[in-house]
Amino acid sequence: MIRSIVRGFGASLPKRVLTNREMETLVDTTDEWIVQRTGIRQRYIAGDDETTASLGEAAARAALDNAGLTPADIDMIILATSTPDNTFPATAVNIQQRLGIHHGAAFDLQAVCSGFVFAMTTADLYIRGGMARRVLVIGSETFSRLLDWNDRTTCVLFGDGAGAVILEAGEGNGTSDDRGILTAHLRSDGAHKDKLYVDGGPSTTGTVGHLKMEGREVFKHAVGMITDVVVAAFDATKLSIDDLDWLVPHQANIRILEGSARKLSIPMEKVVVTVDQHGNTSAASIPLALATAASDGRIKKGDLVLLEAMGGGFTWGSVLLRW
Ligand code: UT7
Repeated sequence: MIRSIVRGFGASLPKRVLTNREMETLVDTTDEWIVQRTGIRQRYIAGDDETTASLGEAAARAALDNAGLTPADIDMIILATSTPDNTFPATAVNIQQRLGIHHGAAFDLQAVCSGFVFAMTTADLYIRGGMARRVLVIGSETFSRLLDWNDRTTCVLFGDGAGAVILEAGEGNGTSDDRGILTAHLRSDGAHKDKLYVDGGPSTTGTVGHLKMEGREVFKHAVGMITDVVVAAFDATKLSIDDLDWLVPHQANIRILEGSARKLSIPMEKVVVTVDQHGNTSAASIPLALATAASDGRIKKGDLVLLEAMGGGFTWGSVLLRW
């Protein structure tokens, strides 16, 4: 059977680092509060010359280099983002043009912080359905542009950045020993749409708007929703949590990462944590964490890796893959 195998990975961060200490000069907050409540120590903020497309392009080029491929080898681009350069066309098309690709298809996918998990799942279906051989899956965000910099309850949490992987069709024998994506589980429930949203849009206010979040409400649901899709991944594959080498979660808050790991009996040594360095970069956080742990040698070929995310919508999901 066809499997979607990770052939390469890459990441890109804006030039500017914004530390918690510097944040103290912008809003009424402290380094201590941010670290204790979230685990975040710094985040990257896009400059005027950096956008979702430029960060996404840089992450894509890094993934192509890592895979030893050229843009001509890619036949589909799926960009997970909630912060497109323009309302339309899709920012994926902008990245396609920057890479000099004129064939295949490119489109954006919007599932907020779960966007990368949704995009990986979508790419896997195109590959296994025979419609694509090599898909560039990118998560790129400039959440700093959606923030209300007077709202200390949200502006300290988010950052900008991009990560990418290349998924390639390969042969598997249909068992959980195969390399590639083994199972994926996606969920959404619009009943929670007003707990984390942006208060603008082309069809309503005609403005971009600002991010609004009932943090405590999101927090309350996060661990349960994450556990739901993690358990589903292991049930579907008959693998056990003990088989897992690495959990690569969406990076929203260290307390959510620790709470989910504890509930699932996954030791923190197996959890890739980048929230301290990047903050919450929404759809970019998982591919940034993947690129971090794969380039420093933690994630190795053959490792069982679980991606999971929960965010606005609510949306939540998991992808279990063998690297
Ligand atoms: O990626 C999508 C998913 N998003 C998330 O997963 C975010 C989920 N939520 C969270 O991570 C947490 O709820 C937050 C980090 C947003 C907030 O942590 P919390 O422990 O739930 O704090 P809280 O909202 O209950 O606020 C506690 C106190 C409040 O003061 P009072 O009312 O107790 O006097 C806030 O006003 O902390 C205050 N506070 C701050 N203080 C200093 C809120 N923000 C700040 C701040 N600096 N930046």
